[in-house]
Amino acid sequence: MSRKKIAILGGTGNLGYGLAWRWARAGHEVIVGSRVAEKAQNAAAELNKKPGAGSIKGADNLSATRQAEVVVLTVPFAAHAATLESIMPGLSGQVLIDTTVPLMPPKVAVVQLPEQGSAAVITRETVGDRARVTAAYHNVAANLLERDVGIDCDILVTGDDPETRKEVMQLVEDSGCRAINAGKLANAAAAEALTSLLIHINRTYKTSHSGIRITGIEKTTLSS
Ligand SMILES: NC(=O)c1ccc[n+]([C@@H]2O[C@H](COP(=O)([O-])OP(=O)(O)OC[C@H]3O[C@@H](n4cnc5c(N)ncnc54)[C@H](OP(=O)(O)O)[C@@H]3O)[C@@H](O)[C@H]2O)c1
Repeated sequence: MSRKKIAILGGTGNLGYGLAWRWARAGHEVIVGSRVAEKAQNAAAELNKKPGAGSIKGADNLSATRQAEVVVLTVPFAAHAATLESIMPGLSGQVLIDTTVPLMPPKVAVVQLPEQGSAAVITRETVGDRARVTAAYHNVAANLLERDVGIDCDILVTGDDPETRKEVMQLVEDSGCRAINAGKLANAAAAEALTSLLIHINRTYKTSHSGIRITGIEKTTLSS
């Protein structure tokens, strides 16, 4: 495994917290990012008590971005634009994984995509060539990632550059999930939209972690 330095912006919250632990446990160097450095350091200290976490660090979002090769955006859609704006001076060609689902409360169980098409496309339009933008993790429940359990739902990975997409698929596998190559970044709209269906399904079937599984594939390989 090639060890990566990964900044998780908003890693103090639900989704980022579980990813931080899983990647640290897999041997990556993880920096939790927050608007407030002390909050990130406190979250890192909590995470380091979890089995195998080791030496996760905390920093403000911009410092975390500056130090990282891979930047993972795990903030609510309401905070998406402001967070991107705050890290722009720190972007210099990193891989950026956007996990944002453009939920627009209160109707979060109904698909409402932004006029640009998706949160991921907004990210690409915002950062331009300052980062290699991909999108993933829209359809997995944070409460699975933060527990020491096997995860049987698939992670759809999108991005325009096939090599970057492959790098991100490897990171998805390192987090203990099956990665599916889902094509160009424009396809992130489908993954983002699916989350509202899953929220509806969670409510209807009284669960907290419905997910998706792609069938009809003999086996997945990272070269696909
Ligand atoms: N939760 C899930 O199961 C799940 C699953 C798939 C995808 N997602 C997507 O992943 C993203 C993160 O979800 P989450 O549930 O982890 O979010 P969250 O816990 O509500 O928030 C994550 C972090 O974002 C920062 N944040 C929150 N509100 C903010 C605001 N108004 N302005 C700036 N920063 C703010 C906070 O970090 P600081 O205060 O430390 O800056 C917070 O700890 C969302 O886009 C969500 O749709 C979530």
